[in-house]
Amino acid sequence: MSMSRQEYSINGSRLSFPAGFLWGAATAAYQIEGGATADGRGPSIWDTFSHTPGKVVGGDTGDVAVDHYRQFRADIALMAELGLSAYRFSVSWPRIQPGGRGPVNAAGLGYYERLVDELLGHGIMPVLTLYHWDLPQELEDAGGWGERDTAARFAEFAAVVGARLGDRVPLWTTLNEPWCSAFLGYGSGEHAPGHTDPELSLRAAHHLLLAHGLGVAALRSVLPAGAEVSITLNLHAIMPASASPSAAEAARRLDGVANRIFLDPLLRGGYPFDVVRDTASLTDWSFVQAGDEAVIAEPIDLLGVNYYAPTLVDLGEPRSGPTAWPGCDDVAFVRQPGPATAMGWTIDARGLRALLLRLHEDYPGLPLMITENGAAFDDRVQADGAVRDPERIAYLRDHLAVVHESIEAGIDLRGYFVWSLLDNFEWAFGYTKRFGIVHVDYATQRRVLKDSAHWYRAVIRANGIDWA
Ligand code: FCB
Repeated sequence: MSMSRQEYSINGSRLSFPAGFLWGAATAAYQIEGGATADGRGPSIWDTFSHTPGKVVGGDTGDVAVDHYRQFRADIALMAELGLSAYRFSVSWPRIQPGGRGPVNAAGLGYYERLVDELLGHGIMPVLTLYHWDLPQELEDAGGWGERDTAARFAEFAAVVGARLGDRVPLWTTLNEPWCSAFLGYGSGEHAPGHTDPELSLRAAHHLLLAHGLGVAALRSVLPAGAEVSITLNLHAIMPASASPSAAEAARRLDGVANRIFLDPLLRGGYPFDVVRDTASLTDWSFVQAGDEAVIAEPIDLLGVNYYAPTLVDLGEPRSGPTAWPGCDDVAFVRQPGPATAMGWTIDARGLRALLLRLHEDYPGLPLMITENGAAFDDRVQADGAVRDPERIAYLRDHLAVVHESIEAGIDLRGYFVWSLLDNFEWAFGYTKRFGIVHVDYATQRRVLKDSAHWYRAVIRANGIDWA
């Protein structure tokens, strides 16, 4: 784990970032912690789902993951070695409230207290996400995100964690990527809890947004002045595949259920009319009650943006069967030529540029943060002990150049978090996809810095990237 193997020097023309720009890495509880039954943790929907045959590649589960629950001190030392100024992690709800409601499990809360203190002891700012997909199973048994009461339960959980850690955590995120929770979890069924019901997926999206709004209010009531509250969205950089009207229609429709269904109620006070119309054959939206939209629009301090790849669309033959895109059965996803990651995701940083510009123009005045960006490749430890991942370095460099360009263009972008610090449990793909800048040997739990980690360390040190 020593840094001596290779030092990257940053020469040539440097793109310098503003003083105070946050350099981070991100993880999520279920993907790294393991310790599935440790210290009173209850089961989450991802425990149930991953233990259901056929749901996750190779039957992988998060039971052990990368053992971060026990190894967090060593992992934080690693973060310090990299020079990270911030670390984005999530709290496992079923560690705090094993059944999702009621009494607090002191051991669970104590764990996150130690984690936060260890970060602060190393001068690393904790950025805490309350919900990164691990709903307590008991709440799912009662209807999960299809049930309005789950939003109230989330607010209660937010208040518990906020009251305990508010004095030490300056930036809070309610939800990570509610699009995935709603539409992969309740629409396509690719994620836990694995339902395939378009009406239920829209209902879930609304209850997640409601949970966010109630969560913001709950946090504000317990956090000290100055603590900031945010939400993180996986916004899609949707581009029409051609200049045809049908491609434009496909892009409008997909943008509705990918982006505006979240952005508009959060930042403009209500659901977009066209989305309600496009999905009218699936639901009458009667799950939206009077006053809900005001709750959801509770002001936030910052918007987290997760970006990986652009999405190219046109109209095509209608599809049938489970979908993550309600009302978009005739929207076709067009494969963009050019390089892709091990996920098959197109590599194109221009998508990030377009996305940031669009946010800046359509939802002005809101500070932004890249809370996830990164790439999976088939990394291997070489005989000499190195992990050479030049494609990841190129990916990160290109996207950071866009971040820099966006800041220069006047966009208020506060920081950047690589997904991910460590190789980890990549949801339905199990351990087959490696996103870390640190390699993990799952048999031994040994961590090895990939070349990208050495490179990122040099970037952080220089507060800039070279662009010769
Ligand atoms: C995002 C998730 C994160 C990780 C990356 C690759 O959608 O938030 O947990 O799986 O994708």
